[in-house]
Amino acid sequence: MDSYIIETYDLKKTLGNKKVLDGVSVKIKEKETFTIIGQSGVGKSVFLKHLIGLMRPDEGDIYIFGEKMDFDDEEKWNSVRKRFGMLFQGGALFDSLTVGENLYFVLENLKPELSEKEKIKAIKRALELVELKDTENLTVPSLSGGMMKRVALARAIVAEPAVVLFDEPTTGLDPITTASINELIFSLKNKINTTFIVVTHDIKSAKYISDRIAMIYKGKIIFIGTPDELSQTDNPYVVQFVNGLSEGPISA
Ligand SMILES: Nc1ncnc2c1ncn2[C@@H]1O[C@H](COP(=O)(O)OP(=O)(O)O)[C@@H](O)[C@H]1O
Ligand SMILES: [Mg+2]
Repeated sequence: MDSYIIETYDLKKTLGNKKVLDGVSVKIKEKETFTIIGQSGVGKSVFLKHLIGLMRPDEGDIYIFGEKMDFDDEEKWNSVRKRFGMLFQGGALFDSLTVGENLYFVLENLKPELSEKEKIKAIKRALELVELKDTENLTVPSLSGGMMKRVALARAIVAEPAVVLFDEPTTGLDPITTASINELIFSLKNKINTTFIVVTHDIKSAKYISDRIAMIYKGKIIFIGTPDELSQTDNPYVVQFVNGLSEGPISA
């Protein structure tokens, strides 16, 4: 039987006068790479924020690690968030700290019980996993855009989270760096074997890294399935998005 790490039931959220989520139900399996795709502004980030308690739904339920979340229990959300690693668009590194210190900062907060030696070992391991061995002493401003993403990724996994959330991990990167980050996410997944939840509007990246893909359109999940099923669907909205056409049902 599948074991679910996160389940949402009929989530609804209106922001301003827009029904951003209009009944979103998904069950994310343990250890899968689950990707949410959809056009810009469709509510992908809003959905992700609901999963970590940064936004509360108007209606609906969320279960995390099999347990129903009480939206008023901030302490519970805090403890859940500690088990989530996050790679968010705006999640910049501290410029004034070295690469190693950026990771150390996370461990001090999330794993204060670790000894100095264990912390240093965890930092080394995380940097090796993102192929940045021996970069502890580099300063952040000296890094390229691709390296910064890698360090941000190392920071997201250094405390060995149960779930890693990615919001648009390749946005703003050139095609070559995008390909290398996708490759890294894919190989990292095989090495650390935790649940990955990815939000992207980049269909190529989604197909490459995902076990399952869900597409949001007009507040609802209109497709959910494997990358192969995505390629084979005849849902016109999905087909149009996947093919990147400018004419058709979405723009109509
Ligand atoms: N805090 C907020 N207040 C009001 N509207 C918001 C807020 N956050 C997002 N929205 C709106 O919700 C919609 C979905 O946004 P978002 O989830 O960021 O889209 P995307 O799919 O590009 O990640 C957009 O119309 C956005 O303007
Ligand atoms: Mg977004």
